[in-house]
Amino acid sequence: MGAAQLVAWFLALAAAAGAAVSAAGARPSEVALGALFTYDSTIGRAARLAIELAVDDVNADGTVLAGTKLSLKSRDTNCSAFLGTVEAFQLMEENVVAVIGPQSSGIGHVISHVANELHVPLLSFAATDPALAALEYPYFLRTTISDYFQMNAVASIVDYYQWKRVTAIYVDDDYGRGGVSALGDALATKRAIISYKAAIPPNSNADVISDVLVRANMMESRVMVVHVNPDTGKRIFSAANKLQMVASGYVWIVTDWLAAVLDSSASRDLKDMSHIQGLIVLRQHTPESDAKNKFISKWNTMARNRSVTSGLNSYGFYAYDSVWTVARAIDQFLDSGQQINFSTDPRLHDSNGNTLRLSTLKIFDGGEQMLQQLLLTNFTGVTGPVQFGSDRNLVRPAYDILNVGGSGSRLIGYWSNHSGLSIAAPEILYQKPPNTSAQQLYNVLWPGDSTTMPRGWVFRNNGQALRVGVPNKASFKDLVSSRGPGNVTGYCIDVFNTAIKLLPYPVPVQFVTIGDGTKNPSYIGIVSMVAANTLDAAVGDFAIVRNGTAISEYTQPYVEAGLVIVAPVKQTPPSAWAFLKPFTLEMWCVTGALFILVGVVVWLLEHRINEDFRGSPRRQVITIIWFSFSTMFTAHRENILSALGRSTQELQGLIV
Ligand SMILES: *[C@@H]1O[C@H](CO)[C@@H](O)[C@H](O)[C@H]1NC(C)=O
Ligand SMILES: *[C@@H]1O[C@H](CO)[C@@H](O)[C@H](O)[C@H]1NC(C)=O
Ligand SMILES: *[C@@H]1O[C@H](CO)[C@@H](O)[C@H](O)[C@H]1NC(C)=O
Ligand SMILES: *[C@@H]1O[C@H](CO)[C@@H](O)[C@H](O)[C@H]1NC(C)=O
Ligand SMILES: *[C@@H]1O[C@H](CO)[C@@H](O)[C@H](O)[C@H]1NC(C)=O
Ligand SMILES: *[C@@H]1O[C@H](CO)[C@@H](O)[C@H](O)[C@H]1NC(C)=O
Ligand SMILES: *[C@@H]1O[C@H](CO)[C@@H](O)[C@H](O)[C@H]1NC(C)=O
Ligand SMILES: *[C@@H]1O[C@H](CO)[C@@H](O)[C@H](O)[C@H]1NC(C)=O
Repeated sequence: MGAAQLVAWFLALAAAAGAAVSAAGARPSEVALGALFTYDSTIGRAARLAIELAVDDVNADGTVLAGTKLSLKSRDTNCSAFLGTVEAFQLMEENVVAVIGPQSSGIGHVISHVANELHVPLLSFAATDPALAALEYPYFLRTTISDYFQMNAVASIVDYYQWKRVTAIYVDDDYGRGGVSALGDALATKRAIISYKAAIPPNSNADVISDVLVRANMMESRVMVVHVNPDTGKRIFSAANKLQMVASGYVWIVTDWLAAVLDSSASRDLKDMSHIQGLIVLRQHTPESDAKNKFISKWNTMARNRSVTSGLNSYGFYAYDSVWTVARAIDQFLDSGQQINFSTDPRLHDSNGNTLRLSTLKIFDGGEQMLQQLLLTNFTGVTGPVQFGSDRNLVRPAYDILNVGGSGSRLIGYWSNHSGLSIAAPEILYQKPPNTSAQQLYNVLWPGDSTTMPRGWVFRNNGQALRVGVPNKASFKDLVSSRGPGNVTGYCIDVFNTAIKLLPYPVPVQFVTIGDGTKNPSYIGIVSMVAANTLDAAVGDFAIVRNGTAISEYTQPYVEAGLVIVAPVKQTPPSAWAFLKPFTLEMWCVTGALFILVGVVVWLLEHRINEDFRGSPRRQVITIIWFSFSTMFTAHRENILSALGRSTQELQGLIV
């Protein structure tokens, strides 16, 4: 029996046994899953055990991938983009259906192109760079929260305390730059800005970091947002501590890397913690659940067995859920009757007989269907609901906001995409309609053991003092007088100093005396100096004059000028004719004459045609006079018949 006949015989048998059996029968006994991360890192140590634990759990589970074993192929990228890329290629040669990782955003950018070509989905539990966007890299799927949301959380905190300028301290790689760019956008929506970007080259030593911090310290902002990786981060805080920058007046907001370091560090030594007191730290929020607690205890048992001293952190939860996401997707993929086939890429061929042997890289034929299954993921894992939104981000992004104090950290609230800052857990808020009106956090103990909220800015170290001009003059020395350079006294100076003290922040002032003290200097000249920006302000007995107000701003007057207007007073006795006062005698006469004139004109126009204006001469004279005066109250007995008469009457009505 030939091979072809054997296959045909098997196919007939399968068809007879029915569709369901045929699908199940086609299931492979083993499916390879790749993993790519740095073993010896804070995140990697937690993720390594979590991924192995997840593979064991999937293989032991009877409901997901029953009959098919997941086999894990891990590779160590050792924090190097070059090694990471090479190892990604090696993984692709081993016919993996998906890769858990990479851990770093930089490697993510590079190998996403490979994944796009070979149709192998990447599920990264730690590459948080928001620039790893779904449009450019369709096979890159982030199984943790994008820094886009973390930076919105930071912006909400900055806005909550009403700071307007922040200094961003970041490591100058894809991860740092992507995060800081998202921070800039997020702050802009809250009308705040990044006033200084302190970029730290990757793998810098303590000297370089100190230099960067010293420069950041010269700027006015005292709100530092630190978005770096754990190794650089530890060096930043020991340098900042030496420079006394973790002290009263400073605000440090630190992204989730520090939470991972704190959660993972075995010894909560007060000496280690002393230089990070008062920091605000973000950490991905995962709701409390039985599954989570069970996972934590299993992880700890496994860590003890392997003598791993480093602890679990929130990235471990995401790594564990990533494996389950893939397992469920493979299960669905196989259930839908697909097969796991790989084919050679026609675009990769060893034409020149080179030694890179690129032709061993295979395209995963079912990659696109696998990706669709991954996007349909919908289950509850240790990190809560695992589901991808339309923008391919995990649904319900939320952060814990922690305040480092003593030998640990205190939860001061949560941030969720749904309701912003709150002290109620996000999973409770998600049951309610979104409510961003009530932003709330518990009190924070700031650096330097201070409970008062730092102002968030200072005058720049290299900034100049306020230059205040003071006239040095010969007269009225009580108001302002000079007793040598910079030593000025007087009532005006006292008012000024008191006003400066009322400001909630210190303002350095330098008095500049103008004039030689023997004759009065030109006051408008001093005002012109303020306008010309050779002085920042002027204090003294300045009069508010017209051409001065055109070129500068004056304060409210605080000394009375003493100028008055003198006018004679004439007493008039009260009289019964007071009602005639408004008009003079001439005016009354003209008004009376005008009425008579109108009466005569109307009589002239009307008496030939109108009965009302006829009769004896005496009666006609009375009618004229009566008509004139009754016009004032528009109550005539006489009807006007001619058009001219009517317009004359209207004209008079208007005048009255
Ligand atoms: C990882 O890289 C560092 C230097 O970057 C090197 O010292 C170390 O030996 C490497 N570790 C492994 C396991 O390759
Ligand atoms: C770790 O676990 C394995 C089996 O689960 C056991 O054989 C081994 O003795 C354990 N090692 C330690 C150090 O407890
Ligand atoms: C996978 O390969 C098998 C044989 O190698 C073939 O019968 C099957 O049609 C292939 N499946 C797909 C989806 O290409
Ligand atoms: C996810 O699953 C839950 C129950 O398991 C279901 O209620 C919900 O509608 C599902 N969501 C989607 C988007 O399919
Ligand atoms: C976050 O919130 C915005 C606005 O409320 C919404 O448009 C977006 O879909 C949310 N994203 C996620 C992943 O929930
Ligand atoms: C939002 O929360 C605040 C305080 O809890 C409450 O007063 C307000 O009514 C809420 N708004 C909505 C729309 O639920
Ligand atoms: C200013 O001059 C007065 C009188 O000469 C003197 O008592 C005072 O100490 C001086 N102040 C300063 C700050 O020089
Ligand atoms: C303002 O007016 C005064 C006199 O009224 C004049 O001496 C002075 O030059 C004017 N200054 C300016 C800046 O116009």
